[in-house]
Parts: sequence; structure tokens; C-alpha cells
Amino acid sequence: MANNKDVAILILAAGKGTRLKSSLAKVLHCAGGRALVEHVVLACQPLHAKKIIVVVGHQAEKVQGVLEPLGAETVLQQPQNGTGHALLVSRRAIGNAKYVVVLPGDAPLIRTETLKALIEKHKKGKAAATILTAVLADPSGYGRILRKGGDTVAAIIEESQLTDEQRELNEINSSMYCFSTVQLWPALGQIKPNNKHRELYLTDAIAVMAAKGETVLASVAADAREMLGCNTRADLAGVDHTFRDWKREALMRDGVTIQLPETVLIDPAVTVGEDTIIEPCVQLLGRTKIGARCVVKTGSVIADSVLGDEVTVEPHCVISASYFDSDVVVGPFARVRMETHLKSGSRIGNFVELKKSVVGEGTKAMHLTYLGDAKIGTKTNIGAGTITCNYDGFHKHPTTIGNKVFIGSDSALVAPVRIGDGAYVGAGSTITDNVPADALGIARGRQVTKPGWASRKRRELAAAEKPAKKKKAKRR
Ligand code: UD1
Ligand code: MG
Repeated sequence: MANNKDVAILILAAGKGTRLKSSLAKVLHCAGGRALVEHVVLACQPLHAKKIIVVVGHQAEKVQGVLEPLGAETVLQQPQNGTGHALLVSRRAIGNAKYVVVLPGDAPLIRTETLKALIEKHKKGKAAATILTAVLADPSGYGRILRKGGDTVAAIIEESQLTDEQRELNEINSSMYCFSTVQLWPALGQIKPNNKHRELYLTDAIAVMAAKGETVLASVAADAREMLGCNTRADLAGVDHTFRDWKREALMRDGVTIQLPETVLIDPAVTVGEDTIIEPCVQLLGRTKIGARCVVKTGSVIADSVLGDEVTVEPHCVISASYFDSDVVVGPFARVRMETHLKSGSRIGNFVELKKSVVGEGTKAMHLTYLGDAKIGTKTNIGAGTITCNYDGFHKHPTTIGNKVFIGSDSALVAPVRIGDGAYVGAGSTITDNVPADALGIARGRQVTKPGWASRKRRELAAAEKPAKKKKAKRR
């Protein structure tokens, strides 16, 4: 990539976003799994510019909180007197950079390649300003490009200032520009807040430059979607849709099968291995990593989890912050959360919840079970309805279960408790004491069997019923 050390990037993110009707600053709204401004910064990073500066104002601290980990510098614009004013307050931060690329913080679909082409066109054309534009079927809401002829621009007319004739113009200003600072600063010095909001519009600097005979170029974006800004909730939904499309397309190119792709939602940082099948209505969120040849079946939601190869997630599982080795099967209807580790060959069945637990190789918990703060060895069988009673109302306590253990169905294991290797727990037990290796732990009321009791009982009941029945018959 060409050296961009003579370029400063300025992202405008100080505005409130009145049209969103929200208590949250516009650029912090999410689309495609990230805050809008975060997408813009990430698209700029590979340009290796001199610096990335973000103009903040509305909810400045919150916006800074998102930007700091990304290494962007911030400039405070207070009050927010328009996009032109945002540039003026950033002059010192831009310093002696020869070029400044200006981007709106609310247009998150922009790609690095497009910005690279913008800078190259600007430098090659020795322009004062180069504007990225798009031709839209519905240009309403955007400033329009008034061309001079060929590639050059006379002015940008804001929507509120369009004449009836100009309303027909369908080439829009994306608010993404490359400027040569030597021509930009004098032009900005000449703009006036001649609009109903009394703001300094950066767009007015374009007409100033053009009137001086300086070169203002326009570059029509190959993919108009990259230029879309988010001013309304409907815009946010549209942009989110595009991000999700792009992510699924990228995974499919990399060898992932996605059935009914439009129903599947995948966050940007998610990775999926070759030949994995994602069924309809699945969500893969956060930092999830899924291995090769897995199947994630319908209705499952997986967040911030790592799955090995050949894992099967049956329908309708909810998995978060957990780690599965290869060859694991979970579900249907399983919930796995908080640092649970399922080792190779383990099987987790329907209506099983796991929290902060380790399940050893080849171990099975197939039905209706809660395992919390439990450490379970290899090849152990956890019977249906087993519950680890890990909470005493004040603290959480661990349960340790060894290798090749058999926990009978409907057992309550009252933690802290240990079940040794090879031990048995009788079905229906409430285990409060440790069960040593190879022992049987059984803790339940003893069964009493009374032969012939049932028929005696039935006879007794029938005798009590008879007089009542006769009475009824008489009445008829
Ligand atoms: C702006 C452009 C318009 C263009 C559109 C593209 C102007 C005057 N108009 O309009 O030509 O078609 O973007 O999406 O520039 N901001 C600040 N400080 C301010 C005002 C705004 O940092 O004082 C930031 C906002 O947070 C936002 C960006 O600048 O990220 C654009 O502002 P916005 O209010 O969305 O401008 P538009 O009306 O969309
Ligand atoms: Mg906007």
C-alpha cells in the first residue's frame, strides 16, 4: 500500500443524531455487530495514515471509551456548530499533514480499498478536494453534487437549500472527502453560517474552492452502499442488513455452508471453519470461533465461545463464553455458559444447563440436568434430572466427580461434595457427604412393599361407594 504518512484522517462524530430519537449518541449505535464509529476507524487503520483523529462532542466520554482501545486520537468540539466548524477545531491536531481525509462517523460501510482509491485519485489529480459520491435512486436526505463538467464539481447543495430543479439531482455527497490542507484552510476561513441551523457547513467550502478555480473532483463509488449514512432507525436497519450479507458471503466464500442465509446473523469477528454447516435461524455472536466440519442446527445462539472440529450443536441451544473440544455433541435445548469446558467426546443432551463446569472426555449428561461449578472426569454418566446444589444462599460451592462414575437419575449433589472414581450414586439420592472411589452412595427413604394392598384398597373403596349408587338408581 502507498505511503500515507502525509495524510491525516478526520472522523466527524460529535453530533447528537436528533433523527434517531435516542438518548445514545448516534455514532455509538450498532449496526453489523459494532458501533458505527468503530467500523469507520477499523476501515481506516490499514491505510497507515499519519494519524486518525475523531471529533467528539455529544457524549464525548462514552465515544472516547470506544475509540481509545482502537488507538484513535480525539478532539473535542463543544458546541457542535456544524461539519465545517468540526474541521476548524481540529486544525491543530491535523497539524502539518499535506492531506486530510474527512469521514462521517455515521457511514460505517466504507471499505479500506475505497478510501485508498480516493486518496490516490486526489493525489494524481492534484486536486484541492476530491469528493466520494454515489448515484442513488432515492437521494433524499443527502447533499447533492452540482457538477461543473467532466469529473469536476461546482458546489454541494444541502437538501434544505435545493431549488425545485436541483431536487432532480441524484448524485449525493457521501461526506467523505480528501482535501489538500493548503487549499482547505483558506476556503474554510471564508464560509458563513448562512443556513437555518446557523451552522458552518463543510460542504460550503467546496463552492468556495470551485469559485477560485481550484480543482474539485468527484469520484462515484462503485458500490453505493458504502456511502450510506445512518440518520434514522430505518437507515441503521438497512446498513446492518448489508453488513450481515457481507459477512455471510465472506464465510460462504471460505467454504462454510449457510442454509437460508438471510435468516442467519453473524457478528464480524466470528470465524467458521471449512465444511461447517449453519442451519437457518442461527446467531453466532461476539468472538465466537467455530472449527471445521461442525453442524450448528436451527435456532441456536452461540456467543463468545470456541468450538473445535466436528462439533454438533443440536437445535435451540444457547451457548456463551464456553469452550468445546472437537467431537462434542450438545442439545437440543441445552444451555452452556460461563467458562464451561466440554472435552472431546462428551455428550450433553436436552434440557441440560451447565455453568462454570468441566466435563471430561466421553462423559455424558443427556437429560434434564443442572451442573454448576462442577468438575467431572472422563467416561462418567450423569443420570437424568441430576442437580448440583451449588449455592447455599450466600456462596457457590464446587462439586467434584471422578472418572467412570455413575450418578443415578434424580440425584441432588449438595456441594461442596466429592464423588470418587468408579463410584455409584443410587437414583433419587440427596448426597451431602463425599462418596469414596468405588463405593455406592445412596441416600433416600427406604421402600416399603405391602403385598395385596391394592386390591384390598379397591374393595374398601367400592364398598363405601355402593349405597350412594343405589339411591341414585331409585330416583330415576
Ligand atoms: C452531511 C452533509 C451532506 C451529506 C451527508 C452524508 C454537511 C453540511 N452535510 O449531512 O452533504 O450528504 O452528510 O451522510 O456536511 N458532526 C460533527 N460536528 C457537527 C456536526 C456534525 O462532528 O457540528 C458529525 C456528525 O456526528 C456526523 C457527521 O458529522 O457523524 C455528519 O453530520 P450529520 O448531521 O449526519 O450531517 P448530514 O445531515 O447527514
Ligand atoms: Mg448524516
